[in-house]
Amino acid sequence: MLFVELIRSKRDGKTLSREEIDWIVSAYTRGEVPDYQVSAFLMAALLRGLNPQETAALTQAMLHSGQILDFSDLPGGKVDKHSTGGVGDKTSLILSPLVAAAGVKVPMVSGRGLGHTGGTLDKLESIPGFNVNLDLVEFRRILAKIGCAMIGQTAELAPADKKLYSLRDVTGTVESPNLICASIMCKKLAEGIDGLVLDVKTGSGAFMKDPADSEHLARLMVETGEEMGKKVVALITDMDQPLGRAIGNALEVAECVEVMRGNFAGLEDLVELTLELGAWMLVLGGRVKDVTEGRALCLELLHNGQALERFRQLVAEQGGLVAAVDDLARLPRAAHTTTVKASASGFLTAIECERMGVAGVLLGGGRQTKEDLVDPAVGILLHKKVGDTVQAGETLCTIHYNETKRLDEALPVIEAAYSIGPQRPAARPMVQKILRGKLL
Ligand code: URA
Repeated sequence: MLFVELIRSKRDGKTLSREEIDWIVSAYTRGEVPDYQVSAFLMAALLRGLNPQETAALTQAMLHSGQILDFSDLPGGKVDKHSTGGVGDKTSLILSPLVAAAGVKVPMVSGRGLGHTGGTLDKLESIPGFNVNLDLVEFRRILAKIGCAMIGQTAELAPADKKLYSLRDVTGTVESPNLICASIMCKKLAEGIDGLVLDVKTGSGAFMKDPADSEHLARLMVETGEEMGKKVVALITDMDQPLGRAIGNALEVAECVEVMRGNFAGLEDLVELTLELGAWMLVLGGRVKDVTEGRALCLELLHNGQALERFRQLVAEQGGLVAAVDDLARLPRAAHTTTVKASASGFLTAIECERMGVAGVLLGGGRQTKEDLVDPAVGILLHKKVGDTVQAGETLCTIHYNETKRLDEALPVIEAAYSIGPQRPAARPMVQKILRGKLL
């Protein structure tokens, strides 16, 4: 096939056949077509859109680029959750051990930071020694032993997504519902799970900022999962300000550990979302009869230390420094901090979330090119959240940084993210809508 002809077809809004999409995915996975042609194709797909058949074909081609796991011989339900990406969005780190501690297995395949959003793998790797590049034998061994394991796409598992994801990250081709659906669902369908909880973000920090677009993406993913015989539920959740207080890899790990220690003060939004997602995972895993029972069990496991203990085991099994979980000062720390002060008194009316994510990348916590290494220590700690009262001169956030040049780029972006006004803004509900698949 002549790739340039396929790029032209998509550029001109034509529909590609399943065979053509298969060819693009397998040729790219095998390294037979260059990044620049695939980048052009992705941009054409983003601008022109893919129809449901093309989206299904892309998802399946990416799924079949690697193995599909089978954990049916392991006892108990197997579920996972996946987020469409946000800022300070760290629930996976808590949910995986939490749900495993409740007796439901979580074979989790996650991604790295994408665009302005953070990635679970980058967060985990901020724990010294933590290995997310396990082979599938080791993945299964750990899952069978402790009920959870967390890895990235491997050469064996959705390798097409591994390559496409990092290319999209740096070519402005993330914000397409079709590409997001294919990327998320190919990984999740390869995992050997019975049920999947999707956290579809909406608001200024989400890829889909408009609720209608978020709902469209949620439906696309629920339908794709159902077609493959999985129980799927999608929660459309607020991402109009960063989740919790920490943005940045090691800072977010520390925040998750605090939640698993039962220290919820100031982290109510993070805890609320964690309980809701965790409860649904337990429902889909057949562990509880409904979300109310699921929330109560999750809360108990956070308070009694069992989720934290499972996290310690996970870190140990995946080669990480458990001492850094027990003593958070042993996580990577930036050399410098500085603060941003309120310019006026009033109510904090917005923390423009995408800007905060971009600032995190500029500080070095995410990638600007595929080859970039992330700095695990840098980030932003929020002292005020939307709706809080502020006095002029009060600290809004602390920036953790290692390079002054990077701080100089990030600081104006952070300052511009804040709005202060005379009226307290209406609170936005954390869970805005729930879409259940028909198999539920
Ligand atoms: N998460 C993914 O895994 N892929 C996307 O495209 C967006 C979020």
